Amino acid sequence: GKVRAPTHIISTISDDRGEEPCYAGVPMSSIIEKGFGVGDVISLLWFKRSLPRYCTQFIEICIMLCADHGPCVSGAHNAIVTARAGKDLVSCLVSGLLTIGPRFGGAIDDAARYFKDAYDRGLTPYEFVESMKKKGIRVPGIGHRIKNRDNKDKRVELLQKFARTHFPSVKYMEYAVEVENYTLTKANNLVLNVDGAIGSLFLDLLAGSGMFTKQEVDEIVEIGYLNGLFVLARSIGLIGHTFDQKRLKQPLYRHPWEDVLYTK
Ligand code: ACO
Ligand code: LMR
Repeated sequence: GKVRAPTHIISTISDDRGEEPCYAGVPMSSIIEKGFGVGDVISLLWFKRSLPRYCTQFIEICIMLCADHGPCVSGAHNAIVTARAGKDLVSCLVSGLLTIGPRFGGAIDDAARYFKDAYDRGLTPYEFVESMKKKGIRVPGIGHRIKNRDNKDKRVELLQKFARTHFPSVKYMEYAVEVENYTLTKANNLVLNVDGAIGSLFLDLLAGSGMFTKQEVDEIVEIGYLNGLFVLARSIGLIGHTFDQKRLKQPLYRHPWEDVLYTK
């Protein structure tokens, strides 16, 4: 057989050695010829397979809906302040990206983990939420700074509407909605947020599409692929905010003294 020197890197998602680069074995020309979109490219490079159209469309909807949420949110604020300090595009982008985490935009993986575990173990929403409370952990995917029962997040409604129409099953999402119904009895702003909607619906996509084995679903949830959707999406908005500040020639930002409580 072939004798090879041991390699220092193993890679399984793409190959640029041939006449044209391939994503998960699919040559670029066929990506273009078949009219593939960003959702298909994400399917190939993240999940190493072509997914059905409704799945790639769902991925693209997540990207479009999470691309931006105005200048006041944590990520955009950081990017704007960085741009106004005269920094370059990459610095502004990463300064915004670094705010993504358990409170802001990066709760998708934990929402998927906790909703999956609770649903698979047959916990009622009451048992699930109260067990989280006992452990002192906020339910990831629940709660919003400005959204509430009477001012629901349009993004969540749009994602749910798409999935109810196109997904074979939305059992995890329906469970997340039952959790929301319970948390809303505690406080008005404990709505299912966009992270929780994407986390629960991606579980439905993974489990219901027939494209992943149970082990693969567990691995995707355990490794935590899903925050990647928010990171990728929000990069679009953060880059936009950076260009906006530079176009507007905004000066160095300094926070007003009046807005700080100086105290001992
Ligand atoms: N689960 C249970 N209780 C909660 C939750 C939650 N997810 N969120 C808030 N509460 C309750 C708690 O009793 C909290 O008191 P505590 O500080 O003793 O825990 C109380 O509400 C008030 O919390 P605040 O911090 O005032 O709520 P705020 O409006 O600032 O928080 C936030 C909003 C950060 C989103 C919060 O709800 C949270 O941590 N959620 C979980 C993480 C999450 O899903 N983040 C993604 C948001 S969507 C996005 O960023 C795109
Ligand atoms: C967002 O998408 O950035 C928001 O949901 C977070 C926020 O604070 O509004």
